Amino acid sequence: MLFKKENNAPRNVPGHIAIIMDGNGRWAKNKGMPRSFGHTAGAKKFKEIARYCNKIGVKYLTVYAFSTENWKRPKEEIDGIMNLLRDYLLDTANFKGENVRLRFIGDRESLPQDIRLLMENGERESEGATGMTAILALNYGGRDEITKAVRSIVANGVEAEKIDEALISSYLYTADIPDPDLIIRPSGEYRLSNFLTWQSAYSEFYFDNVLWPDFSIKDLEKAIDEYNRRNRRFGGV
Ligand code: IPE
Ligand code: IPE
Ligand code: MG
Repeated sequence: MLFKKENNAPRNVPGHIAIIMDGNGRWAKNKGMPRSFGHTAGAKKFKEIARYCNKIGVKYLTVYAFSTENWKRPKEEIDGIMNLLRDYLLDTANFKGENVRLRFIGDRESLPQDIRLLMENGERESEGATGMTAILALNYGGRDEITKAVRSIVANGVEAEKIDEALISSYLYTADIPDPDLIIRPSGEYRLSNFLTWQSAYSEFYFDNVLWPDFSIKDLEKAIDEYNRRNRRFGGV
């Protein structure tokens, strides 16, 4: 989509932006506060960035909120993150009237039952929204996703010759969601940490040293500008 900036130069807004919301703990520690303080600030930041993405015409925004590996953390921290999620899902004011569709990717089985119900409610209630789709990756792991897909393919008795890339894609959580164009990771880490393993094959990557609670609209704009300078060849010339 074309969007005019102040200087009137047309630019391409990525159709699908994915963000690894990392650095909450360090942000809190720098302030002498408990890690939970950072997660609260991170959740607030998500709303601000999501709202802005919707405004500039991003079609899909996927955010990594909890990985399949994050269960390794202390119970207290996990409980705090789950409570934040509850608050978020219970706050009906979120994106109501903003035409944002809410979706979740990840393994729901091991999430608390009440949260699962809230997730289903949120998805159902926003189903008709025609603006941006906000996708929360919760208890998500790329390898776990692919493993589950393989299991289902085998369980369905699919013949070996029928298995191609499109079929595998159709078994992933993201079956009807286009691959991310731009993947942003703040906090100075240069890795995917099991995020969108299959889907990131041809994504553009943008790394930033800013910690997620400090990530601003300006920082997002910098990432989009950088994305506009990239030459995506997809293996061609
Ligand atoms: C990201 O921030 C949030 C989750 C993984 C849930 P972190 O909690 O990983 O923050 P750092 O990386 O320890 O600073
Ligand atoms: C990735 O961050 C997961 C989320 C942001 C939800 P981590 O903090 O868990 O990643 P590592 O452990 O530094 O790779
Ligand atoms: Mg981290």
